[in-house]
Amino acid sequence: MRHESFERWSDYVSTFHREHPGITEDILSRATSAHGLNPYQWIVAPIPLGSRTLDLACGSGPSLRQRPGEQWIGIDRSISELARSHISGTDNILQGDATALPFDDATFDGVVCSMAVMVIQPLGTALEEVYRVLRPGGMFVVTMPGRRPLRIRDVARYARLVARLRRHRLTYPNEHVLRRDRTTFESRGFEFIEDTRLRFRLTFDTPETAAGFVESLYVPGATSANVARAQRLAARWVGSDIGIPLRRITMRRGLAT
Ligand SMILES: C[S@@+](CC[C@H](N)C(=O)[O-])C[C@H]1O[C@@H](n2cnc3c(N)ncnc32)[C@H](O)[C@@H]1O
Repeated sequence: MRHESFERWSDYVSTFHREHPGITEDILSRATSAHGLNPYQWIVAPIPLGSRTLDLACGSGPSLRQRPGEQWIGIDRSISELARSHISGTDNILQGDATALPFDDATFDGVVCSMAVMVIQPLGTALEEVYRVLRPGGMFVVTMPGRRPLRIRDVARYARLVARLRRHRLTYPNEHVLRRDRTTFESRGFEFIEDTRLRFRLTFDTPETAAGFVESLYVPGATSANVARAQRLAARWVGSDIGIPLRRITMRRGLAT
């Protein structure tokens, strides 16, 4: 049963990114925090300049592009995402799986992973690989969907959207990492430095942005009719915005080898 769910999610995520390359970047790069940062500027901020850094599950490469001229390299298993990154002029990206990284031990000073720890499977194997390729004391920064902070209107809007998608809420295969629980990371040798949450405001400037936001949500099993119903609802919000709640965890690889 567990294996079946693993394969169902894995196939879904692969197909999703083949059909919608760059969709995460298209939405998140337009969203801004109260400090004026987008989520990609936010995730790279803790990594010191001059660090040799891996962008794990980099997608179309938006985090890499925050540090032009630096020794950053990306890896993602989706060929379609990599093709999209090339169109954007990003070439320092490899195709590969987070659970079998093609790098020597202690290659990197830093690793970032934007919006992927909730879907990489098996996550424990990927975290062991991050630990292996990071030098002792190196930084590991992840972002993931949060449940807060949100405004009351955001909560109401999400409730209406998921109802149209015939869901109770949005879910992911690695639900446990979205909670306050730190053991997933700490048991693999990472020490927490900071755990923060921000609301990023996405303005629905056009019906296309509203439709793209709905399209960017992982909703396995949703019919195209239900997605279209949710998109029609979001189109009514053009001229206003929705909050995207994100959590960022900044960690350090423990010094034990
Ligand atoms: C929500 S997207 C995030 C992409 C990018 N980091 C961003 O924030 O725009 C999740 C990414 O994880 C990648 N992914 C999922 N499982 C993976 C794995 N086992 N190894 C490598 N990449 C994986 C997908 O191909 C997809 O590009």
